[in-house]
Formats: sequence, structure tokens, C-alpha cells
Amino acid sequence: MKEKIGWFLGTLLMTCLVAAGPLGASESSVELGKKLFNDKALGGSTNDNSCNSCHPDGKGLEKAGTRKGLEGMINQCVAGPLKGTKLDESSSEMQSLKMYIESLGK
Ligand code: HEC
Repeated sequence: MKEKIGWFLGTLLMTCLVAAGPLGASESSVELGKKLFNDKALGGSTNDNSCNSCHPDGKGLEKAGTRKGLEGMINQCVAGPLKGTKLDESSSEMQSLKMYIESLGK
């Protein structure tokens, strides 16, 4: 009986962990992207710049959403102008920034 309860709790825990993975990743949103775009701490930025400092309200990036390699350009601006650390391309931060930039051209 005890083993069965242990097995049941173990299975339950595993199910929760597996279910939490995709849920965490699906937090990406245009809203989060906009917030991060205005966040002076994005990528651990070590200066006072946010993306918005040079691209106010995303001005000038309306066509960038359709470009190939958008992640690379975003990361270039994270590492260069923001003096931060490049984002993981599969992170919800990167996905959200992409979604925000893509929404500018619509
Ligand atoms: C110090 C100013 C500065 C900051 C801060 C900055 N950028 Fe840029 N960014 C530029 C310049 C300059 C270019 C190249 C010229 C252009 O395309 O506007 C550029 C280009 C880009 C491009 C490519 C545009 C295109 O049409 O291909 C993207 C996308 C972009 N930046 C996103 C960001 C994001 C996201 C952030 C925040 C992580 C950011 N930038 C922060 C100055 C900045």
C-alpha cells in the first residue's frame, strides 16, 4: 500500500513538472515584449539604456519584424548599446521581444 501511494505521488509530481514546462514557455506575449523593450535592466544591461532609448515606441523597427535573423539583431543591440548579455534565443524574453517588434508592422 505504501509503495502504491509513493508511486502515485511520484507520478503526480512528474506530471506537474512536465506540465509546467510548456506553460512557462507560453508566457511570451506582446505585452511582455513591450515591457522588456522599456526595461533598462534587460539582459543584465550595465548602462542606462533600454531598447526604447534609441527606438522610441519601436519607431524605425516597423519592417524589422519581417527580417530573417531578428533574434541576432535583437541580441546585437542587447550586447552593444545595452552592454548586457545576449538572450537565449528560445527564452520567453526573446520570443516576447520578437512578438512586440513583429506587432509594430501590423
Ligand atoms: C544606443 C542606441 C540603441 C539601443 C539602446 C538599441 N538599439 Fe537597436 N539599433 C540601433 C541602431 C543604430 C541600429 C541600426 C540602424 C537601424 O536599423 O535603425 C539598430 C538596429 C536594430 C534592429 C534592426 C532594424 C532593422 O530594420 O533591421 C533591431 C531589430 C533592433 N535594433 C532592436 C533593438 C532592441 C530589441 C533593443 C533593446 C535590446 C535595441 N535595439 C536597443 C541602436 C540602438
